[in-house]
Amino acid sequence: MKKITRLPNHIAIIMDGNGRWAERHGLPRLGGHQAGAENMHSVIEYFIKLKLKYLTVYGFSTENWKRPQEEIAGLLHLLEEIIDKETLELHNRGVRLRHLGRLDELPQGLQQAINKALELTKNNTGMTLSFAFNYGGRTEILDAVRHIIAEGIPPQSIDEELFDSYLYTAGLPEVDLVIRTAGELRLSNFLMWQAAYSEYYFTKILWPDFGNKEIDKALLSYSQRRRRFGAL
Ligand code: FPP
Repeated sequence: MKKITRLPNHIAIIMDGNGRWAERHGLPRLGGHQAGAENMHSVIEYFIKLKLKYLTVYGFSTENWKRPQEEIAGLLHLLEEIIDKETLELHNRGVRLRHLGRLDELPQGLQQAINKALELTKNNTGMTLSFAFNYGGRTEILDAVRHIIAEGIPPQSIDEELFDSYLYTAGLPEVDLVIRTAGELRLSNFLMWQAAYSEYYFTKILWPDFGNKEIDKALLSYSQRRRRFGAL
């Protein structure tokens, strides 16, 4: 049997397929998101156990505002519930939380809950768990450009390192592996700058069904790849 010989340092996941999962189980879409949230909990647990350093999950994109009002409200509510229920446990396990995206466009109560969780966990030294919520890769790049111009940074001093430090992900390492569930083969505006040299793993498994065995398959696939970063 083949073994996982090399673990990525930073994994980013597009948790897709909650809606289809709900449909297959005769449930409303929110039931699928609920199941997705439960799976997210076990996936985080598993990665803590594996001692992964950085995990980033895509919870809500800037494009998701186009969904029906009821689904948006449900997702916002679910996130608030997750923060409420899980923060202390994550803190006790040494997890440092980060938020990626435009925070100021979220409801006040949610902003406060997020800020409180970030503050509580900011000095933790275990896994860094970044939550992309109201996140868009293009928006992130535009926000960085605006910020750089507003600060009057001279054009000749703008290099990749400086640009990196103006992104929501400032201080996070490159993404080694992007995982996307539910069969779609696209990046959907996720971490476009950061995933320029990532490896990709796509699976048809729907997010609520993406368990430890499926994670092992993704990790095995990653550990068999040869990364060259443009060199020979
Ligand atoms: C994509 O499935 C999933 C989302 C848009 C939200 C991800 C949310 C969770 C995993 C729930 C817990 C997390 C948070 C942050 C609330 P989809 O709805 O696009 O599925 P479909 O393509 O099958 O319709």
